Amino acid sequence: MKLNVAVFMGGQSCEHEISCITANQALKALDNEKYEIIPVYVAKNSDLYTGEKLFELKNYYDLDALCKDLDKVCLYKDGNKTYIRPIKGFFAKAQPIDVAFLAMHGTGGEDGSLQGFLELMDIPYTSSNVLGSAIGQDKVIMKEVLEMEDVPQLPWFYVFSNEIEDNIREIEETAKEISYPLIIKPANLGSSIGIEIVHKKSELLPKLKECARYDSKLVIEKMVTNLKEVNISVMGNVYDPKLSAIEEVMKNDELLSFKDKYESGGAKKGPAKKVPGASKGMASTSRKIPARLTKKQEETVRENAVKAFRGLNANGVVRIDYIIDGDTGKVYVNEINSIPGSLAFYLWKEVGVDFSKECDILIDNALKMYREKKKMTRSFDTNILSNYKEG
Ligand SMILES: Nc1ncnc2c1ncn2[C@@H]1O[C@H](COP(=O)(O)OP(=O)(O)O)[C@@H](O)[C@H]1O
Ligand SMILES: [Mg+2]
Repeated sequence: MKLNVAVFMGGQSCEHEISCITANQALKALDNEKYEIIPVYVAKNSDLYTGEKLFELKNYYDLDALCKDLDKVCLYKDGNKTYIRPIKGFFAKAQPIDVAFLAMHGTGGEDGSLQGFLELMDIPYTSSNVLGSAIGQDKVIMKEVLEMEDVPQLPWFYVFSNEIEDNIREIEETAKEISYPLIIKPANLGSSIGIEIVHKKSELLPKLKECARYDSKLVIEKMVTNLKEVNISVMGNVYDPKLSAIEEVMKNDELLSFKDKYESGGAKKGPAKKVPGASKGMASTSRKIPARLTKKQEETVRENAVKAFRGLNANGVVRIDYIIDGDTGKVYVNEINSIPGSLAFYLWKEVGVDFSKECDILIDNALKMYREKKKMTRSFDTNILSNYKEG
C-alpha cells in the first residue's frame, strides 16, 4: 500500500512563490513508487486546491489561471482518518491523507499556524511542532531562547514599534553601548525584508520608524561589517539530530537580499511576478561548499547547531544561519529557518543524502514523532460532566 503524502505549498506569506519552487523540487524528488503524492496549493486567500497541474512549475506563471484549472478542496476528519475532497461535485472522490509534507515558508506555513491546523486535523507533518515553529518565527523569542541555551549571538536588544518615540533617549543609550553600525530587523519577517542599517545616532530614529512599518517588534543588533555567512542544516528530531555539510553564502549587496537569495537573474527586489527567473529557489544562491572555516570554527558551527535545534524545539529539516566576524574570527548564530528554502537539499547531497532520501527521512520522522505523541497520556477516561449539577 502506498502512503498518501499531501505536499503543502503557497500560503499567505511573501515567500509564496519560493514555497511553490521548494514544493516542485520535492514533488520531483518524492518516490512515486512508495507514495501517492497529493499536491495541496494554499492560495494567497487561504483557499485550498489540488490538481495535476501542480506538478509542473511552468503552470504557476499565472496563479489565477492555475487556480481555475485546479479543484478547490477541503479537509475533514472521519473516524481515525483525515480526508481531502473537492468541495464541488456530489460524487467527488475523497482521499485519505497519511502525512503532510510541508514545503511552506514564512507567515502561516512556517510559524505554527498550519502546524496547529494539522494537529487539530490529526495529521502527522514533517516540520517542527506548533511551539518550535512559533519560536523560530519570532526573532525576539528565538534570541531569548538561544541566550538561555548559551548559544553565541551578537549583542542585541528589542523595542516595541509603538514605543520608539517615547523611549528614544533610552534606545539611543543602549545603541551607544552596543556601538554603531547597527542593524534593525522586523521580528517576524524573513528574506531580508524591512531590514535597515544604522551608521550613526542621527539615523536611528528615522530608520526605526521605517522598519516599524513592517512589524510591531524590532530587533536592534550589532552589525558585523567584515562578515562571512555560513549555514548548516540539521535534520531529524531532538533525540537524534543529524548535521549536513556547511555552506558559505556569497552576496552582492551589503545585506544578503531577497534578490541574492532567489532572483539571481537580477530582477527588481521583492517577489517576482513570474516564478522567479532563477527557478531553483534557495538552491540558486551562489555558495561555496564546504565553507572556508578553521577547524575550531567548524566545530563551533556544528556544536551550536545541535544546541540550537534542541533548544528551539525543532524537528524535521531546518537551516541554522551563522555570521562570522572576519576581523575577530568569532562565530555567532544568526537565526533558524524552520522550513528552509529548497529544504536545504543541496547541503544534504554533499553528505550523501540525495533529495529522495531526504524526503523519505522526513516522512519517516513525521510518522515516528506522531506515534511518540500518541503514546503520551493526554486525557483520562472519565466524564466529569456526568456528575456535574447545574446551578
Ligand atoms: N548583525 C548583522 N551584521 C551584518 N549583517 C547582518 C546582520 N544581521 C543580518 N545581516 C544580513 O542581513 C541578512 C538578513 O538578516 P537575517 O537576520 O538573516 O533576517 P531574515 O530573516 O530576513 O533572513 C543576513 O543574511 C545578512 O546578510
Ligand atoms: Mg536570514
